[in-house]
Amino acid sequence: MEKVIIDGGVALEGSISVSGMKNAAVAVLFASVLVGDVCTIENLPDISDVNISLQILESVGVKVERLDATSVRLDSTNACDTMPPQELVKKMRASYYLVGASLGRFGHAAVPYPGGCDFGKRPIDQHLKAFHALGAVATETPELIEATATGKRLKGANILFDCPTVGGTMNAIMAAVLAEGSTIIENAAREPHVIDLVNFLNLCGANISNAGTATIKIKGVEKLHGCIYEISPDMIEAGTYMIAAAATGGCLSVENVIPKHLETVSLKLSEMGAYVEDDEENSRVIVRGTGTLIGKDVQTQPYPGFPTDMQPQIAVLLCMAEGESTLVDTVWKNRFRYVEELKRMGADITVMGENTAKFAGSTTFQPARVRAVDLRAGAAMVIAGLVAKGQTEIDDFFYVERGYDHIIEKLRSVGANIMKIN
Ligand code: EPU
Repeated sequence: MEKVIIDGGVALEGSISVSGMKNAAVAVLFASVLVGDVCTIENLPDISDVNISLQILESVGVKVERLDATSVRLDSTNACDTMPPQELVKKMRASYYLVGASLGRFGHAAVPYPGGCDFGKRPIDQHLKAFHALGAVATETPELIEATATGKRLKGANILFDCPTVGGTMNAIMAAVLAEGSTIIENAAREPHVIDLVNFLNLCGANISNAGTATIKIKGVEKLHGCIYEISPDMIEAGTYMIAAAATGGCLSVENVIPKHLETVSLKLSEMGAYVEDDEENSRVIVRGTGTLIGKDVQTQPYPGFPTDMQPQIAVLLCMAEGESTLVDTVWKNRFRYVEELKRMGADITVMGENTAKFAGSTTFQPARVRAVDLRAGAAMVIAGLVAKGQTEIDDFFYVERGYDHIIEKLRSVGANIMKIN
């Protein structure tokens, strides 16, 4: 098993360049199935979720040609609605975008039930509701998601989500772009990754407007065509390095970012006492630890609120800060499995009910042997390990590599003593 060892206690200094956004990349890759032509996707993060997505695409007949570490040419001319291998699909959540893409193009999709990080229940009822509204019969079992158009072509519809689901919104968009007539998605997710997917599809000839708002409008088109598309920077990767700078009392210029996407993270870090400078012009954010961290309450929300995918990372800062803090995750009910791991390093956290944690504050992290229980939880362990003076060992590091492009090399380049061993 791979593990990572961090010799902590070093303030990070320098600049880190952020890679393409995982949660946009995986959606755009699966959306290429809809296109039936050649697309070049650039600024892909070099992470295992992208590699698995490419293997799944190959299994359904997409010709995949790696151009370099961050770009790929995809020819979906001969793609089909064959079922991809369960062992690949189970390795990640986003494999369910193949349902929307395959249903949209072929009128049928059969995809094994996806895996992904364990936050308790992760229902897909809203995805199925959208497929039904568009004129498909859609079912789920613990093994399979299947959807079949009842007519020759899906039909545009009004879709009103019960909650702003990212996956549901993207799957509904993919199913609707080639449908007959117009679709309106209300209570849509507003995350930047939704905008990325829409920009990609519009470049391929789709007619989608209002992405980034709660009401997305889609006019169905007959056909799409290939394009060259560059994925936007990853706001969660950026936010993770911003917190690492504040936690270690260092100074990082986090580059190749869209500062607007990071507004709530920047604001919370400033409120807690870190120095944060948004530099829109140079696409970077500079974060410096000031030696003072003040406890604050944090509540995760769908975008533009504080992201749930930054919840474990900010928890590390809340542990260190002076005074009590409360962290409420309103998106996921069960995203506190990492608390037990942070406690091994000296954290004083009490989980209350399903989605609230209380922090006593003023923790001096001690090195320990801990586990990455999921992707962002693993990132939190890395930050705590960078802070704790001495050697921290992180097991199951493969979770972190699902979503962070060359994290070890990037952290080493700003002074961290971190290495991977088998
Ligand atoms: N929900 C439903 N029914 C549905 C779909 C969602 O009730 O049919 C609920 C969920 O239970 C949850 C909320 O809606 O309470 C939001 O879920 P959403 O569908 O938005 O999550 P997702 O699409 O499964 C994506 C990201 C997650 C991120 C969430 C929220 C990808 C591949 N995953 O998941 O990212 O936490 O949105 O922003 O885009 C990560 O990158 O570490 C990660 C877990």
